Order: sequence, then C-alpha cells, then structure tokens
Amino acid sequence: MDDGLEDGTVTVDTVIRNGKVVSPSSTVEADVAIGGDVVVAVTAPGVLPEAAAEIDASGCYVLPGAVDSHVHFREPGYEHKEDWETGTAAAACGGTTTVFEMPNTDPPTGSVEALRLKQELAAAQAHVDYGIYGLLDENNIDDLESLIEAGVSGFKCFMGNTFGDLPAPSDGAMLEGFEILARHGYRCTVHAENASIMARRQQRMEAAGRSDALAHLAARPEICAVEAVGRAVAFAEWTGARLHIAHKSSADALYILRDAKARGVDVTVETCPQYLLLDTRDVERLGGVLRVNPPIREPGHGEALWQALHDGVIDMIATDHAPHQPYEKSDSNIWRCDCGFPGVETQMPIMLTQVNAGRLDINQYVRWSAAAPALAWGCYPRKGVIQSGSDADIAIVDMGRGGIIDREAIHSKSKMTPWHGFETTATIVRTMVRGRTVMENGRLVGERGWGRPVPQSMPEPRPRNENKTMDAIVRKPPGF
Ligand code: NCD
Ligand code: ZN
Repeated sequence: MDDGLEDGTVTVDTVIRNGKVVSPSSTVEADVAIGGDVVVAVTAPGVLPEAAAEIDASGCYVLPGAVDSHVHFREPGYEHKEDWETGTAAAACGGTTTVFEMPNTDPPTGSVEALRLKQELAAAQAHVDYGIYGLLDENNIDDLESLIEAGVSGFKCFMGNTFGDLPAPSDGAMLEGFEILARHGYRCTVHAENASIMARRQQRMEAAGRSDALAHLAARPEICAVEAVGRAVAFAEWTGARLHIAHKSSADALYILRDAKARGVDVTVETCPQYLLLDTRDVERLGGVLRVNPPIREPGHGEALWQALHDGVIDMIATDHAPHQPYEKSDSNIWRCDCGFPGVETQMPIMLTQVNAGRLDINQYVRWSAAAPALAWGCYPRKGVIQSGSDADIAIVDMGRGGIIDREAIHSKSKMTPWHGFETTATIVRTMVRGRTVMENGRLVGERGWGRPVPQSMPEPRPRNENKTMDAIVRKPPGF
C-alpha cells in the first residue's frame, strides 16, 4: 500500500467495498478508502478496517466522476434557462463531478468584474467542482492577463455565431489573444465554425423562405468546420498556444487534427453523445429540440467520430450542456429556436449503454470522460482517476440496471432533451464529490456550495515566434 494507513497517520472516514475500480488501463476488484476530500488507498478487497461510513458497491463499477469540459450554466443573465444550482445538481445526478463552464452568459465572462460575479454565484451554489472559462473576443485582449490572474480555467473563443450572439473576433484579435495565452500556457477552446459563411447562407435561406429544421444544417455545412479548425490550428501552431476543439461534429477536418497532433501541436478535441449517436433522421423527428451548433449531420459522421475516438484523434467526451425553455425551442420556424439542449445528466448513462453495446470498453470510457479532460485542463491526477492522493470524485454505476430517460425526471431547468424515451442499460447509483455523497439512488443529497473551483496546473508554456508577436512589434523597443 502506498499510503500511511499501516502506521496510522491517515484517517479513513469512508470505505467503498466490493466494487470493481476502473481506470483507463485496468478494472480491478478493490476497496477504496477515503479520508477527508481524498482517496487514501485502493486496496485488495477485505483488508481495510471498518470505517464510520461503509458503502457497499457489490455488483457495481466504481468510476472516476466525469470531467465535462463544456457546459453552459447560464448564470448570470439567463437564469430562467439554468442556474449554478440546477446545472450542478444535474451534473451530480449524472455522475459528473467537475465541469468547465462557458462564458456566453450576460454579462459574458470577458472582464474581471464579470468573472468575479460568476465566481460568487458558483461558489454559493455549486454541488460539484468547477472551472470557469474566460472569453476571448475582439475587445478584451488587454484583459486576458488579468482574467488569468483572477482565476479563469482557460478561454473560449467563439469563431462562429451561436447562442448569446457574441461576435466572432477578427483574425487579428484572435492571433494576438493566442500570443498572450501561449506565454501563460493556457488552453483556448474554440467554437470552430466559420462565421461569415454561415451568416450569408442563413440570410439567403431566410430571404428565400426556408425555415424547416434541416435549413439549420444547410446553413452550416462541414466546410465551416474545416476552415475554422484549420485556422485555429494554424494560429495555435504559430503561437504555441494550447488549443481545444469544442464539440467536433463531422468527419471532415479530422485529418487536420490528426496531422496537427502528429506534428506535436498541443490540440485536444472533444465530441459529444449527440454527434456520436444522432443524425438528420432525428432532426426530422424532433425539429427545434435538436437545433444545436454545430448541427447534427447526415448519417455516417457518427461512425467517423467513433473511429477518431478509438484512434486518439478525438480525446474526450463532453456534453455541451446548453439548456433552454420549451417556448424557446418550439417555434415552427427553425431560425426562431434557440440552439442547444441539456446533456450533463444524461451523458454517463447513455455512454455506458454504449459500453454494454460493445462500442467502447469501460476503460476507454473513463479515459474519454474523466482522465483525458483532467489532463487537458491541468488537473490530473487530482481529478479524473481513483488513486491514492486523488480527490474522491466517484461515480458508482450498476451496469446491469437500465431505464428509460424521462425529461420530467432530469434536474436541469430545461426539459428539452432529445434523449427523452431513450433506453439505457446502466444506472448511476451514487456520485461523490471530494468524499461527500452528492447523489444517491437518483436523489440529490448534496448541499449547495460544496463545489469548489478546481486547482489547475498547466504544463510549462511553450510560446513560439515570440519575436513576431504584437507585443514584440509594438510594445517592446526596436531591436528586441
Ligand atoms: C450553446 C449555448 O446554447 O450556449 N449552444 C449550442 O447550440 N451548442 C453554445 C455553443 O456551445 O455553441
Ligand atoms: Zn459552441
């Protein structure tokens, strides 16, 4: 044992017994000892003394809680869609123990003042741990460093229009922003769709009277992603900024990411259950509910995304939890339906159902849902793994008990889920965040305010072409 259990220097409050503990590389029958916030030992079954709290995980798998790199909790500004309490309750009930929250709130998280406001709201309400993204846009380049000092987890750059209508920055501002983030080693997530192509196509279709559900896809063909992913990779490679591609939805552009990774560019990529499992036939069935950016595409893309996960071109599964109210998603005119839908609570049961169906194994699942995002955001091995010293962030799952997803039962304020009626074959029976049970048998039992900002430590910055940055050519004296 790699701990202080034997000499009594470590206190154990809780023991999880008789489960199968899963990591990216192994599944072992083991008991887990928790002291305070952290795992203090993972041992052979039966050797740990009795603890104050005993949890029996017989017949269940013990997984690291999911780390979701992409959620929208809407507060401040759109509390009727979601708030930090309900969003993190949904996460807790879905086995997700750390979330990274997006800046397209009102005000957007583009200034220190807006960040402080969101930090207070989150601290008072969160059920799970969290990071908060800062915005990178046209007008806040001079604020990026103060946002870093004030504690953002990373940045988000909306290259293409989406909910919140935050304008895409110019290429000049984006490059300058990347130069700054490269110096600090921070990762920038991009919504990689080309704004100008989409705006022109939507405007022409609206003028021509097209407002059917598939018009949304027609406005945002794969080339929008190919171009924007290519541009973002070029800027990241040139500046040395770390890059993260949000919600990869199409087969196209995967070749750019495969090549970039082979060249050593630090780019990570997420996809979401909706892109792996749904296609235009579901859009025809569900209409506005499935309006989302990037769009759900024709059959065939999902297969390519699965393959890319297996090949390592896509690193992780996120949800893009994007809640809206029914009246905001039910207009017969697709252009009047808000984009996005909730997902943080349904990701784990849906993906574990895929494990049971043989599309991935449970070790790959914890790699893609927990270890890989924790690594990308500089919080591994505190998060994303169950081992001595890690935070005790745990989802206990029964892989033999299923159910039917019911929109009325989800904890998000938004019941507009495309997964209503979806049959699952796995159930999360308990979620723990830093040693405390926050969900038990489907019931939220945590206390609001338990969630904490996740400490991060990114690897050394590796800026490139520093003699050609805006800083070098404008702010430094000649000859630098
Ligand atoms: C997201 C939202 O509603 O905030 N919507 C969406 O369609 N995905 C924004 C985003 O991630 O693009
Ligand atoms: Zn997005």
